[in-house]
Amino acid sequence: MAAVNVDLGKDSYTIEIERGLLDRVGGKIRALTKADKIAVITDDHVAPLYGERLSHALEAERFETRIIAIPAGEASKNLKVLSDVYDAMSEFGMSRSDAVVTLSGGVPGDLGGFAAATYMRGIPFFQIPTTILAQIDSSVGGKVAVDLPSGKNLAGAFYQPKGVFIDPDLLQTLPARYVHDGLAEAVKYGCIGDAELFEIFESLKTEKDLEDHMEEIILHSVLQKTRVVEEDEFDTGKRQILNFGHTIGHAIERYFHYSTFTHGEGVAIGMSLLTEQTEKLGLTEKGTADRLIRVLRKLSLPTSIGVPAEELIPLAMHDKKRRGKEITLVVLKKIGACELVTVPTDELSRYIVTG
Ligand SMILES: NC(=O)c1ccc[n+]([C@@H]2O[C@H](COP(=O)([O-])OP(=O)(O)OC[C@H]3O[C@@H](n4cnc5c(N)ncnc54)[C@H](O)[C@@H]3O)[C@@H](O)[C@H]2O)c1
Ligand SMILES: [Zn+2]
Repeated sequence: MAAVNVDLGKDSYTIEIERGLLDRVGGKIRALTKADKIAVITDDHVAPLYGERLSHALEAERFETRIIAIPAGEASKNLKVLSDVYDAMSEFGMSRSDAVVTLSGGVPGDLGGFAAATYMRGIPFFQIPTTILAQIDSSVGGKVAVDLPSGKNLAGAFYQPKGVFIDPDLLQTLPARYVHDGLAEAVKYGCIGDAELFEIFESLKTEKDLEDHMEEIILHSVLQKTRVVEEDEFDTGKRQILNFGHTIGHAIERYFHYSTFTHGEGVAIGMSLLTEQTEKLGLTEKGTADRLIRVLRKLSLPTSIGVPAEELIPLAMHDKKRRGKEITLVVLKKIGACELVTVPTDELSRYIVTG
């Protein structure tokens, strides 16, 4: 078993990583809360797979449990579904001392966390992430949100869970595209701060190798994100390095109206294109882009795109990391080390080249 302590003063908590943890979370949650009732917020794909096992684990510790399953997919991360979840919590008779457990990927995780942050002005919550993306990214850092018609994650909060329980065995049912999608973020962590993690990816030869190293990859990733979040809980500075590949990645997602490419695929292309350019500009050690592209291709992730750069650049300028006429890019110095580079927006064409 591995445990990572997230040190945020009075909001500190532990992230546990262990195969088979799902069946043992009851006692762990009981040790952290006196709640009588627990609302399990999940979706209609995950509920039939793991809902009953979690209910058993919780009921064995005398929690009264109610499963609230929203329709699977990003389209559910909205105020209407949030309102339905509040209604279900209220109908279940939850009080301020009761708790929420999210059992899910990032969508019910973000929405369920926001419900917990706001129901009766905030009740405790725990996360049991079930996608790679949720295990290494969305469940670490305390950002909870829903989307508004005008943009993603526009209504949200910083609200830390009381505990995160990661069971890598739950990934066995995850469709392959989501496995690769989530691993793009793990490759990102290797690039920006953990050369050893990157070398694990370089050493993989088969899908079986990947499965055998999954726990290690999750642990390295969680540690990397935790270190960054501890230094910048409220995303005002250092947390920006997590944006590596995302300025171009978001532009690609937007260009295709969030269809064609998943988030991780957009980020994979973004990391590749940017690093090819920064290597040419002499900011990145020679050979880095080649290493990165080789690893991403091995994980079935795309590394280039046939859209003219002139079409992506205006979309990249909508990035939330833009301040006035400048934008901050995360540039690799080499694998495992990065820096923030502030670029005037009219020079973005030196950094974003598709072709
Ligand atoms: N809070 C943050 O810091 C943060 C960071 C990154 C991303 N996010 C958010 O995360 C969301 C994306 O997360 P996601 O990719 O996990 O999406 P998701 O929750 O929609 O899960 C993806 C799909 O996998 C299914 N699924 C989940 N676990 C499964 C399992 N074990 N077996 C089989 N199927 C399973 C789901 O039902 C869904 O169809 C986005 O809304 C994004 O904004 C948040
Ligand atoms: Zn991302």
